Amino acid sequence: EDQAGQAAFDAIIAEDSRIEPRDWMPEGYRKTLVRQISQHAHSEIVGMQPEANWITRAPSLKRKAILMAKVQDEAGHGLYLYSAAETLGTPREKMTEDLIAGKARYSSIFNYPTRSWADMGAIGWLVDGAAICNQVPLCRASYGPYGRAMVRVCKEESFHQRQGFEILLELANGTEAQRQMAQDAINRWYAPSLMMFGPPDDNSPNSQQSMKWNIKRFSNDELRQRFVGMIFEQVKVLGLTLPDDQIRFNEETGKWEYGPLDWNEFKEVLAGRGPCNAQRLARRREAHENGAWVREAAAAYAAKQARKTEV
Ligand code: 3HC
Repeated sequence: EDQAGQAAFDAIIAEDSRIEPRDWMPEGYRKTLVRQISQHAHSEIVGMQPEANWITRAPSLKRKAILMAKVQDEAGHGLYLYSAAETLGTPREKMTEDLIAGKARYSSIFNYPTRSWADMGAIGWLVDGAAICNQVPLCRASYGPYGRAMVRVCKEESFHQRQGFEILLELANGTEAQRQMAQDAINRWYAPSLMMFGPPDDNSPNSQQSMKWNIKRFSNDELRQRFVGMIFEQVKVLGLTLPDDQIRFNEETGKWEYGPLDWNEFKEVLAGRGPCNAQRLARRREAHENGAWVREAAAAYAAKQARKTEV
């Protein structure tokens, strides 16, 4: 049965079609998908915190409403992705417990502090911009539920990126202090957003297999250099600069090149020793505990409904 299953699976991957929840799949395929999708979901949920910090401090009602809508979208992205991961047999409770116990990864980028209102612009433009570069190819991931979740996420992500860019544009055209605030935020968020794409290709243990299985379509470095090319042009519209004077387009290779990144910092952040890791997890734990009564009430209600329909 496994042999026939493996042959059917290989044929689907070879013709670049979709694997659905009920299809036979190698245990390694299932495992790497639960790993990546659960981490992606955790990233969306933890990613709500840096921006939530500024909802009560937004400079106008319009900005407050936009930021609230964006943070709500991220919660929704997390739920789509937890649901996609559940189709692989991992209960949401288990994923949440792992995150709260500090045993699960989430994107490094959310462990950095949001020091000023301009950070809301830098996050929208750079972090959501990087997320778009990474998530558009994931719309074609071989696992059906993941690829389909990404289509919806990407539509909302472009709104996130545009509202961030607009915040920076307003500040860049404002007073000198506002320009400085925007430039300072770009200086702080540039390198961490490049590291969001993952370690360099020669140090990316999952990439090879992930690309064979049509989960990952392009390597970490490939997507990173594309992103550099995008923001190199966009920052000119802001009349601001990127904190990297080594950015250049290499005509021979057709790739964008950029200055060195601090992979030691990346390792530290992944090891839980980033600027905000402890705070993000504590906040997530507290939110989960505060929400226990909602889960209990929903379960009691569901049990009551079930009793009613029992014959
Ligand atoms: N943060 C945390 N961990 C990271 C990371 C990052 N930025 N980049 C890589 N890692 C981890 C990997 O998870 C892996 O560890 P593991 O084996 O324990 O999972 C290890 O570092 C080696 O990296 P690999 O390149 O071998 O791992 P992958 O092949 O999984 O590639 C990835 C990493 C590109 C992040 C890939 O997992 C991916 O595409 N994930 C889905 C997209 C995602 O998570 N996007 C970022 C956050 S979502 C977001 O930004 C929300 C937006 O709305 C703001």
